[in-house]
Amino acid sequence: MKESIDLNNLPAHISVIMDGNGRWAKQKGFTDRIFGHRNAIQAVRETIEGCGELGVKYLTLYAFSTENWNRPKAEVMALMSLLVSTINEELPTMMKNQVRLKAIGNIESLPDKSQRELLAAMNKTANNTGLTLVLALSYSGKWDLVQAAKKLAEKVEKGELKASDIDDSMMDNHLSTAGMPDPDLMIRTGGDHRISNFMLWQLAYAELYIFEDLFWPDFRKVHLYQAIVDFQMRERRFGKTSEQVKSEG
Ligand code: IPE
Ligand code: IPE
Ligand code: MG
Repeated sequence: MKESIDLNNLPAHISVIMDGNGRWAKQKGFTDRIFGHRNAIQAVRETIEGCGELGVKYLTLYAFSTENWNRPKAEVMALMSLLVSTINEELPTMMKNQVRLKAIGNIESLPDKSQRELLAAMNKTANNTGLTLVLALSYSGKWDLVQAAKKLAEKVEKGELKASDIDDSMMDNHLSTAGMPDPDLMIRTGGDHRISNFMLWQLAYAELYIFEDLFWPDFRKVHLYQAIVDFQMRERRFGKTSEQVKSEG
């Protein structure tokens, strides 16, 4: 599968909705959904490693949504502590593989310890030159658009900006993903065909790849390759006709 990938036509940015941990646990006969989250680490590791080895520049993992705060308290707490332990465990590998860690979302809403560990890991990896790994934490697409609107409105209030100057690229520059390319490929495991308030603006022209019968803990490099191979077979038209796209070559 890996040999079928055209390394000159890689998605610059892959984003993943890592879904199905709870169902995975249930399927295995466990009553606690947290068991599924704990067993998702290998999938995360292989995705990061697989992207790094291929030379993908950006990988965003949707780890916790704004709406996920509404889950049972024990599950939220377990996810937060899993975040800290995973970052600590994976830090040496990230350093070895030149992974640069970033985070998007309402990071201030995370528990202090999670924030501290996250910021420390981001600082430690800041000068790494390989894959940029973006964790979406307490993130939602609507949150991102609202915070961008606030920043722009403040600039207008201060007289630094005219409302009529606001355009696509200015929006890009005020979103939490400023400076990153938009995802070309969005992968979702767990079979649901929805965006779940992920990058609403940035996914405008992303190619979606849904794994119908695969829960996130079972995701491996081969699945990443499968999605990339499929992505490379698609014709991305960006609103144009197929004939136009072909003649532009
Ligand atoms: C995704 O798996 C992990 C998070 C949202 C944090 P789920 O926990 O949503 O698992 P399902 O979808 O209920 O199976
Ligand atoms: C999306 O999964 C969020 C993350 C993977 C972090 P959810 O399980 O929360 O999405 P819904 O509720 O099925 O839309
Ligand atoms: Mg889910």
